[in-house]
Amino acid sequence: MDFGAAHVTQMALGAWQAQVLYTLSELDVFELLSEKPLSAQEVARRTGAHPLAAEGLLNAGVALKLLTRDGDAYADTDLALRLLCEDSPESLARWVRVMGRWSRPWNGLTEVVRTGRPAEEREARLWQDPRYTADFVLGMHEYARRIADEVADHADLPPGARVTDVGGGAGTYAIALCRRHPDVSVRILELASVLPLAERTVAEAGLADRIDVTAGDYLTDPFGTDVSAVVLSNILHQESREAGESIVRRAHRALRPGGKLVVNGYFLDESRTRPLFTTLHNLSAFTLWGGGRSYTVGEAAALLRSAGFTEPVVHQVAQGASTVLVAEKAEGPEDQHPADRRE
Ligand SMILES: C[S@@+](CC[C@H](N)C(=O)[O-])C[C@H]1O[C@@H](n2cnc3c(N)ncnc32)[C@H](O)[C@@H]1O
Repeated sequence: MDFGAAHVTQMALGAWQAQVLYTLSELDVFELLSEKPLSAQEVARRTGAHPLAAEGLLNAGVALKLLTRDGDAYADTDLALRLLCEDSPESLARWVRVMGRWSRPWNGLTEVVRTGRPAEEREARLWQDPRYTADFVLGMHEYARRIADEVADHADLPPGARVTDVGGGAGTYAIALCRRHPDVSVRILELASVLPLAERTVAEAGLADRIDVTAGDYLTDPFGTDVSAVVLSNILHQESREAGESIVRRAHRALRPGGKLVVNGYFLDESRTRPLFTTLHNLSAFTLWGGGRSYTVGEAAALLRSAGFTEPVVHQVAQGASTVLVAEKAEGPEDQHPADRRE
């Protein structure tokens, strides 16, 4: 098969492969087989599945190198044990479950593109379903902890710095900042439904005395006063341009002179057609909840400058998997902006 046909075939069938991964994960097959090898009939009995369909799923899992089969007995491969079981320190299990959940709204992409309306309402679905919320927040943690130390190094904080981590999720970056910078303390501002998850992660890291988790709405609440640094990690892409401007202005107001704004995320290049992951991430924000838009580094730098920050220093993290912009508070409009409520 020529390259073009192979490329199209791989894309056309890619969803089938992904769906096998999602269904094995949703039925908890990786967890089940991590205890001991089982036959297809036993997997079907334990998961409430149809025996013949379960056998087909397990065989596809073997073909995808997620499972092995020895006679009748299926088992996890080393890769599945390492990456697809929740208790593994390298786990991506929750993140994969979230991708499985998002495959449903993604399946409605044609309708989303036709109508311009998102397929999933964030508020309506995500924060009202505790398992989904936990998978989303802890899934991001599974993913982000791989690069968090490198991001924290670029923040380059002085001893004793006080940091606000806006929409800090499970506390991945707050934990990394505290581990990399002595005497730093962090306040995570998060939605109330996420607080217990962040508190648990922070407690497990033994940092409850240095990381405070506060309920708040980053669209309206202030980010503190006289803080040394504000972290905006993977926040701006999911909000409208106006909300992003308001968030950056309130970060500026919260900082002491010379304080740092640390923006971490995925940025498009100037053509807006690369890197591939970010073009998909951009589309995903629109498909799932509308309004979001990925920035280029140039657009983000302009946004920061217009709020009174210096030109940001740009760092590529983990060979370009993420980008960190670090800017300092310079002169800027200190007056209350009419769009920034509650201040
Ligand atoms: C894409 S995640 C990023 C989490 C973390 N900063 C990271 O980089 O891994 C976005 C986070 O913003 C939080 N969030 C969403 N809307 C919010 C709001 N209005 N106020 C505060 N936090 C919010 C979510 O709960 C979620 O943890």
